[in-house]
Amino acid sequence: MDDLFDFINNGETWVESISDDAVVLRQFLSNRSAELSATIKDIEQQAPFRHMKTAGGFTMSAAITGCGDYGWISDRRGYRYSKVDPITEQPWPEMPKLLFDIGQQCALEAGYKDFKPDACLINRYAPKSKMSLHQDKDEKDFTAPIVSVSLGVPATFLFGGAQRSDKTIKVPVSHGDVVVWGGESRLFFHGVSPIKPSYHPFWGDNRINITFRTAG
Ligand code: SIN
Ligand code: FE2
Repeated sequence: MDDLFDFINNGETWVESISDDAVVLRQFLSNRSAELSATIKDIEQQAPFRHMKTAGGFTMSAAITGCGDYGWISDRRGYRYSKVDPITEQPWPEMPKLLFDIGQQCALEAGYKDFKPDACLINRYAPKSKMSLHQDKDEKDFTAPIVSVSLGVPATFLFGGAQRSDKTIKVPVSHGDVVVWGGESRLFFHGVSPIKPSYHPFWGDNRINITFRTAG
């Protein structure tokens, strides 16, 4: 185990292509756990994780919060970005420089220059939570990529095509992996399979996902 730990934290990273203009930056953030966990805990103090309702009246199994100029909200009126957190009725917490820089750096590694995320969504998945196939299409600017950071227990990320019925590939994502999609695949369907019970020191039996977007 010691050898594996050293290997991962010695900056051993690699890039995998998973679709048109979509890559996984493997292990890019595996040595940033302490600062990331402190930052998320700080955001959570200001804007708690909550389970949103979909327009159809279902409760999402992943809990969500966020920071930045815009937060993503869902209620009986549908999905949209909002400058105000409906729970606190305050603006979302400012996006910490640490997160902005991580989002921008990961985009650059994937070939997207000058990515300026103004929305950072944080999802928390307890065991059995999932995210159904969907497109990220509430953002104003589809030339900007989506940067998606996986932390905590592993998950299976599903990545499909432009149509809901397109075949999906199963992409295992673990702590420190970053998926970036844009260009041809910016509007491709994606989701997360139900989280299997397991443990990771980052957040116990939960998975945390951070996505960076240009929303406004
Ligand atoms: C999302 O599509 O918004 C989240 C993806 C993930 O949790 O990996
Ligand atoms: Fe998404």
